[in-house]
Amino acid sequence: MTVDPDRIEVEAAAAEMDRLAVEIADHDRRYHGEDAPIVSDADYDALRRRFEALEARFPDRAPADSPGRHVGARPAQGFEKVIHARPMLSLRNAFDEEDVAEFVQGVRRFLSLSSETPLAMTAEAKIDGLSLALRYEGGRLMQAATRGDGREGENVTRNIETVDGVPKRLVGEVPDILEVRGEIYMAHGEFLRLNKEREREGLPLYANPRNSAAGSVRQIDPAVTAGRRLSFFAYGWGEVSERPAETHSAWLKRLANWGFNVEPNGACVKDTAGLIEAHRAIGTRRATLDYDIDGVVYKVDRIDWQERLGFAGRAPRWAVAHKFPAERAETVLEDILVQVGRTGALTPVAVLRPITVGGVVVSRATLHNEDEIERKDIRVGDTVIIQRAGDVIPQVLAVRLDRRPEQSTPFCLPATCPVCGSEARRDGGDVVRRCTGGLVCRAQAVERIKHFVSRGGFDIEGLGHKHIEAFFADGLVETPADIFRLGDRRADLLAREGWGEQSTDNLLAAIEGRRQIPFDRFLYALGIRHIGESNARLLARHYRSLEALQRAAVLAASREGEAWEALIGIDGMGAGRAEDLVTFFSDPRSKRIVEALIEQVTVEEAVTNAGPAGEDGLAGRTVVFTGTLATLSRREAKAQAERIGMRVVGSVSAKTDLVVAGEAPGSKKRKAEELGIKILTENEWLELSGH
Ligand code: IVH
Repeated sequence: MTVDPDRIEVEAAAAEMDRLAVEIADHDRRYHGEDAPIVSDADYDALRRRFEALEARFPDRAPADSPGRHVGARPAQGFEKVIHARPMLSLRNAFDEEDVAEFVQGVRRFLSLSSETPLAMTAEAKIDGLSLALRYEGGRLMQAATRGDGREGENVTRNIETVDGVPKRLVGEVPDILEVRGEIYMAHGEFLRLNKEREREGLPLYANPRNSAAGSVRQIDPAVTAGRRLSFFAYGWGEVSERPAETHSAWLKRLANWGFNVEPNGACVKDTAGLIEAHRAIGTRRATLDYDIDGVVYKVDRIDWQERLGFAGRAPRWAVAHKFPAERAETVLEDILVQVGRTGALTPVAVLRPITVGGVVVSRATLHNEDEIERKDIRVGDTVIIQRAGDVIPQVLAVRLDRRPEQSTPFCLPATCPVCGSEARRDGGDVVRRCTGGLVCRAQAVERIKHFVSRGGFDIEGLGHKHIEAFFADGLVETPADIFRLGDRRADLLAREGWGEQSTDNLLAAIEGRRQIPFDRFLYALGIRHIGESNARLLARHYRSLEALQRAAVLAASREGEAWEALIGIDGMGAGRAEDLVTFFSDPRSKRIVEALIEQVTVEEAVTNAGPAGEDGLAGRTVVFTGTLATLSRREAKAQAERIGMRVVGSVSAKTDLVVAGEAPGSKKRKAEELGIKILTENEWLELSGH
């Protein structure tokens, strides 16, 4: 329940502001830092507005890192930092006519303008891209920087060279130092092209053109950026050696004369009514534009007045952004489809009676997950309110309960995978239900085969992700065993684009080289849920052979009795992993996959106590590494211990068998001493473990 900010108690308000500040900072980081927001702009704005309303009432209780005090997230790693000579700030938002009238009155009041004094203002489209500062010296483009956190951005000069609408040289009269600011964006056509290409390559899709532009500008390799068409609209200035114009409208003309692109739908008006009319006119053209805009920016035209008005907090007093309302519509939810993602996640998707929202026909919407469906009580047959907020995938906001048909029933995600029929399970704490089919599920097969050939598994050199995607699409490799049958399809391989004699033979040789594999790697390669490299090693050491493990898993299938107890009793296993293992080995389809594989490859038996003489009895024991080791990384130390069958844990307890202490070991060593646990130096460890 949201309490009215005028009535809320001070302590409750302070607590809510703390919570909101964290939440907003997280969204800022995702939006600016990672280009991957998880909420719509409208939801984000609502959070900010709520924060601002509370802050306005209890300013002294707002947290020190109030979201109002900085814009965006700190710069990402990988680019040189640029301190902005004039900070790149943000805009206040107006949501309705009243807010706009207040802006105009505020300006008039601040400047003490009489009612007869004309106040010219510009209205221009608010481009939904990312802001960029271009620094020209003597008319030459010297530097391009992103906004970053407003104070410090990233130097992306090399990535800007191929952007449409960024002249490298300005001719005519140009201030010696001139920083032009504006918005970099990706046009719709290019966005669609790029996402299609990414889909083909199996890469995650960009959610909207803004994220796509941001992701493209921040590519470390400028060649990648050059392969994507980005565009730039100029609208402002930063550091300048002399004031370049007396009015904003004159400035825009000057920009256009220098060769910058200036958004063409702007207008110059004289009052609130004029602004509202411009907002309406730009709003009507919105659906026909080839780029996203999310509102209209109003600015005081006279620059001397802008200077007098100055800034309040993070935003200028001379401008405001009048946002477009998120586009909503009502339609009927005709069905709920369940899609299975490449990692086995079951995602419910709303099938909608097609409807136009903001100029785009919508027939699908995401329902996220089953908790979301339950929370909103969304049912097939319901009339739902959907929203498209710039994002490509529309959302279902709410259900019109007053229109619910009489015999509707709550929706449940199926307990089995719609693609392969395997059990679909939700692990504790996970909001996502997942198919447990792994290799047997076609939806997951490609990812599973990639895992199969990965480093910790079969490690087949020359068989990259792209090849697997392509081979799978063409039916050359659909199961792991098919990889080992590729030798019979040499002619098919040679006929493929990019595969010559040499590369084909190299690949086939790499595959041949992997026909023999240690049991633990084989087990890891199968991609059984929760069985990573460490667990695979433990299991291999315990059961020694694949046959023994298969037998044990079948015996443990009743989830009780000796075999089950033995399985869950293995250090580091637990009931969850045991469950996953038993499920895998008792599924006849997984069995077939494994059988087909062992016709092709030889699985080596694991040797228990494989270490040197003298470390007998170490297998199965628990070791803690503490302090800085001189010759070993923690990773390597862990691998050494696991190689001889030891279990590595993070903290010392009565169950610990051994502690290896490096430099500055701290409290763990003290605790080991108290408990009388054997403590070794790094050298003693190396000797004992035979390394
Ligand atoms: S003027 C002091 N004009 O919107 C900031 N900004 O929400 C003055 N934006 O950071 C900004 N189109 O990235 C201005 N025509 C326009 C704009 C625009 C898009 C962006 C800009 C700004 C953000 C604020």
